[in-house]
Amino acid sequence: MHLSPVGISKRCFLFSLALCALLLLLIPTLQTPQRQGEPPQPRPPARPAGARKGPGPHSTRNATGRGKDSGVTRPPPPVAGPQGRRRAQDRDAAPAGLPGSRSRDPLELKDIFIAVKTTRKYHRSRLQLLFQTWVSEAKEQTFIFTDGEDKELRRKAGGNVINTNCSAAHTRQALCCKMSVEYDKFIESQKKWFCHMDDDNYVILPSLLQLLSSYSHTQDVYLGRPSLDHPIEAAERVKSDGTTSVKFWFATGGAGFCISRGLALKMSPWASLGNFITTAEKIRLPDDCTIGYIIEALLEVPLTHTRLFHSHLENLQRLPTDNVLQQVTLSYGGFENRRNVVSIAGGFSLADDPSRFKTVHCLLYPETPWCPHSVHH
Ligand SMILES: *[C@@H]1O[C@H](CO)[C@@H](O)[C@H](O)[C@H]1NC(C)=O
Ligand SMILES: *[C@@H]1O[C@H](CO)[C@@H](O)[C@H](O)[C@H]1NC(C)=O
Repeated sequence: MHLSPVGISKRCFLFSLALCALLLLLIPTLQTPQRQGEPPQPRPPARPAGARKGPGPHSTRNATGRGKDSGVTRPPPPVAGPQGRRRAQDRDAAPAGLPGSRSRDPLELKDIFIAVKTTRKYHRSRLQLLFQTWVSEAKEQTFIFTDGEDKELRRKAGGNVINTNCSAAHTRQALCCKMSVEYDKFIESQKKWFCHMDDDNYVILPSLLQLLSSYSHTQDVYLGRPSLDHPIEAAERVKSDGTTSVKFWFATGGAGFCISRGLALKMSPWASLGNFITTAEKIRLPDDCTIGYIIEALLEVPLTHTRLFHSHLENLQRLPTDNVLQQVTLSYGGFENRRNVVSIAGGFSLADDPSRFKTVHCLLYPETPWCPHSVHH
């Protein structure tokens, strides 16, 4: 076939024209808006969606593996309402995200600062289970905030154990004292996300990474589960004299919550270097409420509600078995009276694994040496 030179250059011209048009169309999608004051917009997943299969034990096996092959296929949470107080949908029911990747700098586990609040009394009973399970997959970025020296714990976790020197009493002051140290250590760490957990939380690391990957740490993001179905009301004693009241949502500390670095830095006047204790004293509320107060009432950044975080205060048995591995945090409680644990079947009986954390762990990481090996093959 003969192609005249004119024909070729015409084709070339048309081709470059089409290329330019394509680039023009792509420009808006390539820019991530990060203006202040905008509500955080979840970004599309770092990986093409579509492979949305059930949470097979292999789909989330490698939590330490990152980026391309970490196997997380859950789509991002839906974009919350455009303005005002936003209540996110049940994120589990989110439609699959857009295919295609535009994340230049995928979030890694090492970018997350995970604070676990505990007390000396629970080093043995509660922390051991965490070290045996999820903490073993996130040793470097998990920090234990406690109130007493413990050589055994120190040997296991070294510099990641922080003795806050706060009182071991379960009082508002002691809890706020610990939160204050957690905040300061996070700021010092230079990590992108602060996540606070309790010592009875199982953190499903692939889900946490997936959730945080859909936001930018430079935006103002406060993610968690409200413990009430309505905002709390408190006397405003920081900005005024306490004669007016203020309403705000807060994420319940017992289910864990996360704050982006961008937002954490803005909290500094009320949270850093002991200011957190002063703020909490002024409004006379517990640690997690004080966080909510600083973020929602003082900084006017809304809590992004998510149902992926769970505390022992809710009925954990109601969580559908199929969805357990897609949650971000789990908890357990009430062994003595009414057992409150997630219902999931696996390698361990209720007697051998009353919290169900070992069972969850073995479904997520079946290669773990102490996991029963015959179950899935
Ligand atoms: C998980 O990922 C890490 C880092 O990519 C790799 O070194 C390790 O071998 C992987 N483990 C499994 C079980 O695939
Ligand atoms: C607690 O006290 C010890 C001993 O005085 C000190 O080394 C440590 O830095 C203190 N911890 C904090 C978080 O200030």
